[in-house]
Amino acid sequence: MELINMVAKTQFGLEELLAEELKQLGAENIETHNRAVSFSGNLALMYRANLSLRTALKVLVPIHKFNAINEAGLYKGIQEIEWDKYLSKEGTLSISTSLRSDFFNHSHYISLKCKDGIVDQFRDKFGVRPSVELDNPDLNIDIHVANDEVSVALNSSGASLHRRGYRTDSTLAPINEVLAAGMIMLTGWNGEGNYYDPMCGSGTLLIEAAMIARNMPPNLNREQFGFERWKNFDHGIFESVKAAAIADMRPSKAKIMGSDKTFKAIEITRENATRAMVEEDILVSNKRFEEVKAPEGGGIMIINPPYGERLPLEEIGAFYKMMGDIMKKEFEGFDVWIISSNIPALKKVGLAPSKRIPLFNGALECRFNKFEIYKGTRDKRKLVATED
Ligand SMILES: C[S@@+](CC[C@H](N)C(=O)[O-])C[C@H]1O[C@@H](n2cnc3c(N)ncnc32)[C@H](O)[C@@H]1O
Repeated sequence: MELINMVAKTQFGLEELLAEELKQLGAENIETHNRAVSFSGNLALMYRANLSLRTALKVLVPIHKFNAINEAGLYKGIQEIEWDKYLSKEGTLSISTSLRSDFFNHSHYISLKCKDGIVDQFRDKFGVRPSVELDNPDLNIDIHVANDEVSVALNSSGASLHRRGYRTDSTLAPINEVLAAGMIMLTGWNGEGNYYDPMCGSGTLLIEAAMIARNMPPNLNREQFGFERWKNFDHGIFESVKAAAIADMRPSKAKIMGSDKTFKAIEITRENATRAMVEEDILVSNKRFEEVKAPEGGGIMIINPPYGERLPLEEIGAFYKMMGDIMKKEFEGFDVWIISSNIPALKKVGLAPSKRIPLFNGALECRFNKFEIYKGTRDKRKLVATED
């Protein structure tokens, strides 16, 4: 099979994990970039990457690069591509543009100009043209403009890969599925033993943990990938890729537990876990963190608490101090990881973190801090706070 060059996009801080995932899948020529990893592989690898990568947002297939400093240059460059190789004349397309350029101002305008170039090529050749469909097109074209350099790629994923299909909209400030999986992988958790989330919200971290424990492809239950609508879609290869990924699954050796102070969160977690087909692997209960008892035998706990950005530090700081107190009192033998954008509040946990990893939760710059809780864990409140 032909070797295809691809680029998987990710979030800041997850690039190394993504490169490792690609290595495990057998990708070649892996190179890490800012929020992206380039690699190559055959069609089967493209399908497997979409199905199995936990830390990728999109898998793109670059097809052309050219220079342009104005509309005419854009139109000409886009017409250098033979579009009927990728799209049928009755097909539908959408264009997503990202932009960092002194020559162009509006991404929407670039999308329009490129669309004109594509549909005019079809009209000149066949007398008919594909139409634009924003929601669910046959082909999503990704255009990236960096100054005068225009890169054109086909988006093999379609909608972002964080949309695993198990979560319905929720009002619980859920964390992005790709970030959740990345956080768990950053802790180095091996998928066995106790895993606890005491503020589980809609259950994203628990579900991603359950899928890791079973080596389950995160997008196994997704309705559709972009490549399924492509002209070269090979159903047979996709079915065998899926079968191989399912054969790689294993029974869970983890005990995955969650709790939350609201009953609604527990209900939503159960519903989401059922849709993700991991409900049997997750035990949840409606409890405040203040009343939680740690399971025997140590393990790992990941907390995505309220950040309380708009609350006075006194109030939110007291909440973080409470978390530190419970961690020390109850969770000896655990590695506790907390993500928050509220750095002053994080200090109020009162324990010295052994790792601090910068990550973004949406637009919020966060720290993902590791606290190792053992007998005699250093209580920072007894020391002078010097660390950020
Ligand atoms: C930012 S949300 C967690 C979102 C979750 N990671 C997800 O992806 O859906 C914070 C959660 O902490 C819960 N919470 C706040 N205070 C709590 C407490 N004292 N004990 C337990 N849960 C609490 C809230 O009910 C909320 O669901």
